[in-house]
Amino acid sequence: MNDIVWLLFGIFFLFGFVVFRGAPYLPSKQRYARLALTKLYRIRSQDVLVDLGSGDGQILRLATSLGARAIGYELNPILVVISRLLARGDGRQKTRLADMWLVDLPAETTIVYVFSVSRDSYKLTDRLTSHVEKHGKKIWCITFGAGLGGVKPVKRLHAHNLYLFDPKISLQRP
Ligand SMILES: C[S@@+](CC[C@H](N)C(=O)[O-])C[C@H]1O[C@@H](n2cnc3c(N)ncnc32)[C@H](O)[C@@H]1O
Repeated sequence: MNDIVWLLFGIFFLFGFVVFRGAPYLPSKQRYARLALTKLYRIRSQDVLVDLGSGDGQILRLATSLGARAIGYELNPILVVISRLLARGDGRQKTRLADMWLVDLPAETTIVYVFSVSRDSYKLTDRLTSHVEKHGKKIWCITFGAGLGGVKPVKRLHAHNLYLFDPKISLQRP
């Protein structure tokens, strides 16, 4: 009995503690996520999608099913294991057990997907701005739910917003 209590406590802890570092686990709505990666931003085989807080990896699987490569950063080890199992050895998909605020995004990133909370909106904008300043290369960002702080989306579709971070043009501030 004690073991079950500790197990449940452990699971509850792993799903609960992330709220101090980002959004709790709640998957994006699949139908809308597909529209976001096909109609809002037409993802292609040259793309490298990074999902910040990748949960069970559904966005990674969607991106690779559309031909792209995908990398997820996820803080909850249970979700990392599930994501890796569901990837079924697909080499174009990687899930890293990491705090998204403490890693450098790969230089080859072309599109970032994030289902975040409004508390982190400005922090994410700063994060993506410093990435493009460092690499001198544009990146796109799709948010679901809370948008980015201090920047205007280029396009919107349902609850998804599309942003462009381009080192050659200053960000579109509202
Ligand atoms: C709202 S869910 C989104 C899951 C997935 N991206 C999707 O759209 O279906 C947010 C995920 O971010 C993870 N997370 C929260 N803070 C994080 C952090 N600082 N670093 C990495 N992952 C984080 C949570 O564990 C959760 O799985």
